[in-house]
Amino acid sequence: MTSDGYDVVAEAYANYFPGMGPEEPAELEALERFVAEVGEGGLVLDAGCGTGRVAEHVRSLGLRCVGVDLSPGMLAMARRDHPWLQTAVATITHLPIAAGSVDGVMFWFSTIHIDDRDLDRALLEAARVLRHGGAVIAGFQTGDGPREVGEGYREFGLDVRMLRYHRQVARMVERFEQAGLWVIESIDEPPTKEGGDGIGVVLGRL
Ligand SMILES: C[S@@+](CC[C@H](N)C(=O)[O-])C[C@H]1O[C@@H](n2cnc3c(N)ncnc32)[C@H](O)[C@@H]1O
Repeated sequence: MTSDGYDVVAEAYANYFPGMGPEEPAELEALERFVAEVGEGGLVLDAGCGTGRVAEHVRSLGLRCVGVDLSPGMLAMARRDHPWLQTAVATITHLPIAAGSVDGVMFWFSTIHIDDRDLDRALLEAARVLRHGGAVIAGFQTGDGPREVGEGYREFGLDVRMLRYHRQVARMVERFEQAGLWVIESIDEPPTKEGGDGIGVVLGRL
């Protein structure tokens, strides 16, 4: 299971990626546009918040944030490194959040571990918990189909197996629209190094 995998890698993930170092400028700019859409002081749900590094980032840009994640190990790191962040163990396909109660939802590299059916569920859940006019952003690796990505961690002596679902940006745009989310912009960044992954970001509004 993916959450078990993240429990194994949680401490390494938190220590290697304490901040937004892995993000390309285009991704950071997209997050800034999301923050502007949400509005100063708005409340954001970080859906698949992991160790809390992105919650910390949007907090530094003026938002309030709460997080959910399936992995208790990742949330333990969020509590260690970002003790202000309120979190709950939950799946992004069934959010423990009241309807219309948040101004924004972030799926920052968290829909990458769910199949298309669950992606639709997660986006419908985002639409349910957002106030009217609220913003939603998804970041993900582009391409097609599931890949086994545990190898990257096994190099560090961490024995995990994880499937990652790569998706074309057009496909994500289509799924947003299907869930009733109006797409404001989408980004399709080619890989910056050989053998790397392309990155997609879709920003929408209810
Ligand atoms: C690549 S990490 C990204 C974490 C964080 N958003 C970041 O950018 O650092 C993927 C995260 O999604 C979480 N995740 C995977 N499937 C999930 C699901 N169905 N519900 C909630 N969280 C999930 C994992 O536990 C992990 O913390």
